[in-house]
Amino acid sequence: MTTIEGATVLVTGGQRGLGKAFVDELLARGAAKVYATARQPVPSDNPRVVSIALDVTDQDSVAALAREATDVSVVINNAGISGGGGSLLSASIDDAKATFETNVFGALRIAQAFAPVLAANGGGALVDIHSALSWIAGAGAYGASKAAFWSLTNSLRVEMAGQGTQVVGVHLGYTDTDMVKNVTAPKNDPRKVAADTVAAVEAGATEVLADDASRYFKSALSGPVEGLRLG
Ligand SMILES: NC(=O)c1ccc[n+]([C@@H]2O[C@H](COP(=O)([O-])OP(=O)(O)OC[C@H]3O[C@@H](n4cnc5c(N)ncnc54)[C@H](OP(=O)(O)O)[C@@H]3O)[C@@H](O)[C@H]2O)c1
Repeated sequence: MTTIEGATVLVTGGQRGLGKAFVDELLARGAAKVYATARQPVPSDNPRVVSIALDVTDQDSVAALAREATDVSVVINNAGISGGGGSLLSASIDDAKATFETNVFGALRIAQAFAPVLAANGGGALVDIHSALSWIAGAGAYGASKAAFWSLTNSLRVEMAGQGTQVVGVHLGYTDTDMVKNVTAPKNDPRKVAADTVAAVEAGATEVLADDASRYFKSALSGPVEGLRLG
């Protein structure tokens, strides 16, 4: 069971968007310290927030963070990019690779670097931020990257069970951040996604379905594959 009160937490991409909402929620629930990363970090006014640099595409950057943040017992693997959302047939392979480099290999680098840290601190939790688009056709390389990340999380859950780490996969649809600023469809409030996710982690969940879109497409996985598409 994971308790946030008094815990030290890492939130990748924690200085804006959904990551910032996680940082605020963790502080409200009594986290002792929260490492909030950005590629160009800005100092925080809050003494419980450690503003720190991270580029998940850079192995040295991930390793440096893991050397610094040795007191972490909860990792929120939130950093991601929306690039590569167009047609797969006309996608630039370089753009598709860049999307996977952040959303899949970046997240895996964090998991690899922090697994020993979590083990040393009692097991703790690894929380991976996927998307409803992990399960829905039509979102190009972005959707494919989130499907790969979902699979990776499910294997990490098995691999990290022995060290007592709670591995949580989070699925959400449109949520009001910079990533979807041009989307006009209804969006989740990131504060509610963060609050519901942190509550579920504390309750021992291994999966969080943050909204109706995520719940619908999870249930549709057992139906015809043609039903797993946008629109
Ligand atoms: N918003 C949605 O509708 C939605 C829906 C489903 C899932 N998600 C997922 O939710 C997560 C957060 O997204 P968001 O909506 O908050 O998007 P956002 O507002 O665009 O923020 C993206 C975050 O990822 C970080 N990031 C991007 N590339 C990085 C890199 N190479 N190294 C380290 N950090 C990097 C950014 O940090 P910097 O400050 O350094 O740029 C920023 O904090 C993502 O994994 C996204 O795929 C979002």
